[in-house]
Amino acid sequence: MCSRQSTMASSGPAPRLRYHNKVVIVTGGTKGIGEAIVRIFANNGASVVFCSKEETASDLEDELKSSGTGTAIYVSCDVTKEEEIKRLIGVTVKAYGKIDCLINNAGWHPPEQIIDDTSAQEFQDLLNLNLIGYFLTAKYALPHLRKTQGNIINISSLVGIIGQKHAIPYVATKGAVTAMTKAMAVDESQYNVRVNSISPGNIWTPLWKELASHSTDPNAMILQGNDAQLLGRMGTVEECANAALFLAAEGTFCTGIDILLTGGAELNYANKNQQKSGISTFDL
Ligand SMILES: NC(=O)c1ccc[n+]([C@@H]2O[C@H](COP(=O)([O-])OP(=O)(O)OC[C@H]3O[C@@H](n4cnc5c(N)ncnc54)[C@H](O)[C@@H]3O)[C@@H](O)[C@H]2O)c1
Repeated sequence: MCSRQSTMASSGPAPRLRYHNKVVIVTGGTKGIGEAIVRIFANNGASVVFCSKEETASDLEDELKSSGTGTAIYVSCDVTKEEEIKRLIGVTVKAYGKIDCLINNAGWHPPEQIIDDTSAQEFQDLLNLNLIGYFLTAKYALPHLRKTQGNIINISSLVGIIGQKHAIPYVATKGAVTAMTKAMAVDESQYNVRVNSISPGNIWTPLWKELASHSTDPNAMILQGNDAQLLGRMGTVEECANAALFLAAEGTFCTGIDILLTGGAELNYANKNQQKSGISTFDL
């Protein structure tokens, strides 16, 4: 009886593939949030084309080819270069004949910087990566997305809405990504193309680790990073990937929305003035 039950459990129906036979592009798919997105889409039956600016994607492409239910192709593409973006789209359409979903994720958060030490060139370089890169990839993918009535998912950030200390250019680029998402959703609705964004709070990734390593006290910074959420921890890359798959596969009535994937980081009052002395008080 026991052994029969366990046999039945292990030979149950295969898990449903939520994005079977769909073609997905993920920018910045070799690390962190992007890598988890590549994995979840490939494991749900999609053909994924992913990029970074490096020559190769280490073992990820081979791993997904041999184990995934979908397929994955790596293309070297620096999303700050328009010609390379055109090539990324061209390679995808040549390989798979269509595009169903574009996930703009490649981005960077510079170490803490104050306005006095920030040059216009640094600001422009970050705009090129975090904003214009998303715009151009969307621009060249859209003719194909319109044919499939596909969708775009832009990875933005909570700080684009609530701000962040010592991060003016980064906050500005992400605020613009969230706003651009809505404008694009308006224009593309006539083609039934949906455009949405995800605004993560603190997510533990190689980028977060790198930022902490630049701080004078990395452990304290990580503790603060955990404490910023009501849930008392950072989010995981898998939680981001789940949100992206939901938007692509099941969120068929969502367009122009921004998913705050934040563990409640934007809620409640918090200590915001630790460094100020002599904060004024009122007589009770
Ligand atoms: N980690 C967080 O806490 C957090 C929070 C909010 C938003 N985000 C956003 O999520 C996205 C991914 O962040 P992450 O933490 O996974 O970063 P990460 O540094 O771990 O990974 C970034 C990926 O982008 C690629 N990339 C960087 N520059 C590129 C370029 N010029 N061309 C092509 N690819 C490039 C990298 O190779 C890598 O694959 C970014 O847009 C980031 O701003 C992250």
